[in-house]
Amino acid sequence: MSSLEICFSPDLIHLHDLRGKIVVVVDIFRATSTMVTALANGVTSIKPVEDLETCRSLADEGYIVSGERNGQKAEGFELGNSPLSYLGGTFEGKRIAMTTTNGTVAIERSKSGADEIILGAFLNLQATATYLLQKNKSVLIFCAGWKGKFNLEDSLYAGALASLLQFPQDCDGTLAMETLYDAVNKDLVGFLKKASHAKRLQNYNIEEDIDFCLTHNKYDLIAILAGDEIIGKKKPHQNQIW
Ligand code: MLT
Repeated sequence: MSSLEICFSPDLIHLHDLRGKIVVVVDIFRATSTMVTALANGVTSIKPVEDLETCRSLADEGYIVSGERNGQKAEGFELGNSPLSYLGGTFEGKRIAMTTTNGTVAIERSKSGADEIILGAFLNLQATATYLLQKNKSVLIFCAGWKGKFNLEDSLYAGALASLLQFPQDCDGTLAMETLYDAVNKDLVGFLKKASHAKRLQNYNIEEDIDFCLTHNKYDLIAILAGDEIIGKKKPHQNQIW
């Protein structure tokens, strides 16, 4: 029987057994939202990298180098971490190297044992839920958080996905987040604008990204780690399996 659990921070992942599970890594503001948007707008693949120097060096191999620290574009990088940069197919057919404060850390920490790693965002929430329901495997939703701490936006995404999957769970965290999501989703933007990273982004006048990252079901694709690169898989036609 498939089960569902939530890990609220990379610093807690040692408490979870990843074997045999599909891990859904989520970083709503903004890493996984940006990855899903980039792939939906024609980017070929995304290479998640933990450190700045390795990421920077990938320019020599033809990658577009993108990344941020503390929400601000990393020095000398071509791109920061805004999903809006990819709209309109600006980087269609390109490969992106990406490093972020929390999201790429969580991806790296997922590699120890997971059967499969996919990237979750509100932008492709239903597509991810459909994929997981068809796979019918146990799921761990892995929140990137903020520097090891719990954050609201990732945890609420976990509640939203849990309420779509309705997998059996004995994890209080899931119950708490499903209940909170049900309580606040009528004005999710209003609620999450009070969240700590949303305030950080507002201080940098990056308001638009917040609204965009909280848009539900804009894209019908899943983002999946294949080897060490993330690729997009479009939702198949009716009655077809992913
Ligand atoms: C992160 O990894 O924490 C985020 O992607 C930060 C951001 O993009 O502002």
